Amino acid sequence: MLLMQPGPTPVAKEVETIMTKKMVSFRDPAFISDMKSVIEDLKNIWRSHNAFVIPGTGTLGMEIAICNTVKRGDRVLVVSHGSFGDRFIDICNSRDIEVDLLKSKDGTIVPVSEIEAQLKKHNYKAITVTHVDTSTGVKAPIFEIRDMLKQFEDIIFILDTVCSAGSERIYLDEAGVDIMFTGSQKSFGMTPGLSIIWTSEKFLKRRDDLGKIYEFYNDLNNWLPVMEDPAKYFSTPPITLIWGLKEVITLMKKEGIEARYNRHIKNAKAFSEGLIAMGYSMFVEKEEERTCSLANIKYPEGVEIDDALFRETLYKKGVDIASGYGPYLGQIIRISHMGNVDAKILEIVLDRLEETMIELNIPVTPGKGKETFKAALNY
Ligand SMILES: Cc1ncc(COP(=O)(O)O)c(C=O)c1O
Repeated sequence: MLLMQPGPTPVAKEVETIMTKKMVSFRDPAFISDMKSVIEDLKNIWRSHNAFVIPGTGTLGMEIAICNTVKRGDRVLVVSHGSFGDRFIDICNSRDIEVDLLKSKDGTIVPVSEIEAQLKKHNYKAITVTHVDTSTGVKAPIFEIRDMLKQFEDIIFILDTVCSAGSERIYLDEAGVDIMFTGSQKSFGMTPGLSIIWTSEKFLKRRDDLGKIYEFYNDLNNWLPVMEDPAKYFSTPPITLIWGLKEVITLMKKEGIEARYNRHIKNAKAFSEGLIAMGYSMFVEKEEERTCSLANIKYPEGVEIDDALFRETLYKKGVDIASGYGPYLGQIIRISHMGNVDAKILEIVLDRLEETMIELNIPVTPGKGKETFKAALNY
């Protein structure tokens, strides 16, 4: 089965193998050294002041970002390009944090000028942006946001990179971000279970300035000493997952992080051209606002298509894709090209899509999708 869902994504054999190693103590010197190298690599590759690896998922990263930067009564601006952007609203509401929402129209971005105008209206303590909203496939213009934010010194820039770290080009220092986070199961190509978080110096100062917070597990000040010295204890580390993550990082370094980003860009572009040649259209119309992590696609126009039947037929042919999420359930399909998904896999997916279309009497020119894809990749 080809796992083309936007998380979990396929896990490399080397990673699976290392995760079956015999258990050791978290005091084991070899494990401590593994943990140290993971933290160092995460800091160096994503160019951050600190890195944290905590058992959890992407949502834990969201909660941690909020509760370590603002407290009850503070005001946060949420910029949302889909359902995952909206999730910050619920997290803020659950903590009695004042929150305003700027939400884009289907498949588009919120203009940076609108964000700037809103930020001038109140004394915001933080802004949340979702780098790639998995529900729509919209990519936020983070560099324009970074430049605009320079005038608001007190604002903490929270960036959800759950669907981008490891596939979209992002470095914490370059993007001017104060805290960003991902879950291990997406672009890292790891099993689910880890919340990976990067922070700036400004972020750590904000955490200190908050003083006492009503969190224990989520308080990054409790995790900081362990990340600086993994021989220390705060909570039992997920040993197997750390081994897996270490191997993932080794594979990333072998490929080269920039080469990895370029691979995602090239594959995404070729894949979208192949899909368009088959009659699909991209949910995000503007290429510069579209992610290279996954394809959010509209079915060919003018044909009645049963989404559940379509995905079930494809599944029976060995390809597991996702439907739309939230308001887009049943309306669009989502095919991931994150992490370990390469051009060969995408070629098979195009073949299986074509077979599914033929079986369901959806008009398609045989071979056109794959030919267009291969021509775009020059092979
Ligand atoms: C952009 C984004 N943020 C947050 C989340 C929540 O992550 P998790 O499901 O790992 O808790 C997801 C999940 O798909 C996501 O795509």
